[in-house]
Amino acid sequence: MTKKDKLRIAVMGGDGTGPEVAAEGMKVLDAVARLEGIEYESKDFDFGGDRYLKTGEILPPGSLEELATFDSILLGAVGHPDVAPGILEKGLLLALRFHFDQYINLRPVKLYPGVETPLAGRGPEDLDFVVVRENTEDMYTGTGGFLKKGTPDEVAIQTAIYTRKGCERCIRWAFEYTRKRNKKKQLTLVAKTNVLTYGHDLWWRTFQEVAQEYPDIKTDYNHVDACCMWMVKNPEYYDVIVTTNMFGDIITDLAGILQGGMGVAAGGNINPEPGGTSMFEPMGGSAPKYTGKNVINPIATIAAAAMLLEQAGYEKAAARVIKAIQTVTGTKMKSQAAGKMGYGTREVGDLVVEAL
Ligand code: IPM
Ligand code: MN
Repeated sequence: MTKKDKLRIAVMGGDGTGPEVAAEGMKVLDAVARLEGIEYESKDFDFGGDRYLKTGEILPPGSLEELATFDSILLGAVGHPDVAPGILEKGLLLALRFHFDQYINLRPVKLYPGVETPLAGRGPEDLDFVVVRENTEDMYTGTGGFLKKGTPDEVAIQTAIYTRKGCERCIRWAFEYTRKRNKKKQLTLVAKTNVLTYGHDLWWRTFQEVAQEYPDIKTDYNHVDACCMWMVKNPEYYDVIVTTNMFGDIITDLAGILQGGMGVAAGGNINPEPGGTSMFEPMGGSAPKYTGKNVINPIATIAAAAMLLEQAGYEKAAARVIKAIQTVTGTKMKSQAAGKMGYGTREVGDLVVEAL
C-alpha cells in the first residue's frame, strides 16, 4: 500500500499533559474525518520521559523505520521533570525533525475571536501572519565542542551552519506558501545581515535570487531585533515571515504570546517532499503541574491536527476545524489559560466537535 491510499497518523502523546491534549486533537480529527469522508488510521507510540526512565531508550531500535511508514505524527509534548533538560528535546523532538528532514517549521500566528492578546487595543483583524522557520540547520545541528573544559582557559564553540541547499529550499517553500495563501502576498526575510555577514549573507543572496521567480510576491527584509519591535507595534504589517532556525525559535515565542499564548499556538514540522513524514505539535510544553487534572488547554493541539490535515491535502477539513475552534474561543471559553477556560480539557474537545 502506498502512503496515499489512507492517511496514516502516528500519535505520540509524550510527557506530562501531552497525552491529554493529543487525545483531544485526535477526537476532533476523528470527528471531522467522519464528516468529510476522510479515511485514516492511527497508532499510539509511548515515547517520552517515562519510557526513557524505565528502559533507557528514547527512540527504540526500529522505531524510525516504523514511523517512516506514517504520513504524519501528532506530538503532544516533550519534557519530563526527572529527565535532565536537553535529553528528550534532542533525543526525541530534534531527532525526529532531523531524521525525517522536516525542513519547514510552520507557525501560524492568528488571534482567534475571544482570545486575549497582550497587545492593547488589538483584535483578530490585526494578527494574522505566518512564520516559516528553517528547521534543520543553524545552531541546532549540535556542531561544536569544548576545549580545556572546566578550566579557567575553557573554550566553547557552537557553530551555526547554513547551507545553500538548506536556505534555498526553505525560502522557495515560503514563496510558494505566500502565493498560495494569497493574502497580502508579501514575504519578509528576517535575519541579521549587519552582523552575521557570512551565514546571513548567504540567506540574503538566496532570498534575492529566488524572489526573481516570484514577481507577484512583494519582498521585504527586517533585522531580527527590529522585527521584534514591529511585531508588537505593527503586527498587521506581516503576512509571511521566513527566517533561520534560531531566530525563528525566538520570534515564534513572541508571536505565540501575542496570539494568546501556549494554549493556542500550534506548529508543523514539515517535510514537503512526496512521501515525507511531517510532525505537528502544540507549541506549549508538558506542564507537569497540570498533568492528569483535565485543565490543560487542548486548542493548540486541535489546531495542530488541523495543520496535519491541511498538509495531507484535506484543506476543507482543516478549514472546518479552524472555524470550529473560532466558534468555541469566541462564544464559549472564558480564557485560554489552564484551569480558567470555564471547561475541562475534554469538554473543550467536545465543544469543538459540536461546532464542526
Ligand atoms: C520549539 C522548542 C524546541 C526548539 C526545543 C524544545 C528544542 O522550543 O519547538 O520551538 O528550540 O525548537
Ligand atoms: Mn521554541
